[in-house]
Amino acid sequence: MLSERELKEIEEELKDLPSRQSGCIDALRIVQKHRGWISDEAIDDLTGVLNMTHSEIDSVATFYNLIFRKPVGGHVIMVCDSVSCWIMGEERIVDYLERKLGITLGRTTADGEVTLLPTVCLGHCDEAPAMILDGKVIGNLTEEKLDRILADITANRR
Ligand code: FES
Repeated sequence: MLSERELKEIEEELKDLPSRQSGCIDALRIVQKHRGWISDEAIDDLTGVLNMTHSEIDSVATFYNLIFRKPVGGHVIMVCDSVSCWIMGEERIVDYLERKLGITLGRTTADGEVTLLPTVCLGHCDEAPAMILDGKVIGNLTEEKLDRILADITANRR
């Protein structure tokens, strides 16, 4: 069941839209903000609000790579693997993150703190290689820059 707060935020988003279905992404984003990811139960919770079936909502949720259909860590790093970033060293960046975090792409650290995922072009090709950390794009990645970013994540945990 949607919480009162989730429902209020979703209704606020839907009120100016031409149809409830057109607010599907917004509703998914709101539920994900509160629950961390979109479970099957979360999709069931949205069917009545959006007037959509489970499979219709699921197909929207699985299409957008910023909607997580599996549990993720407290921080999500998504490294762009499209052509400009690949040319500019995406593989080196992923290797470095994998070594520093002790996980492979697609996994979450044992402490549940960080999930490392690939993503398609972020529209910041002029800053390649680039990634998203918790929804914020960070470009011109280097090992030194990653060290600072990971140190900040660790510091905020304390
Ligand atoms: S190719 Fe990576 S941001 Fe465009």
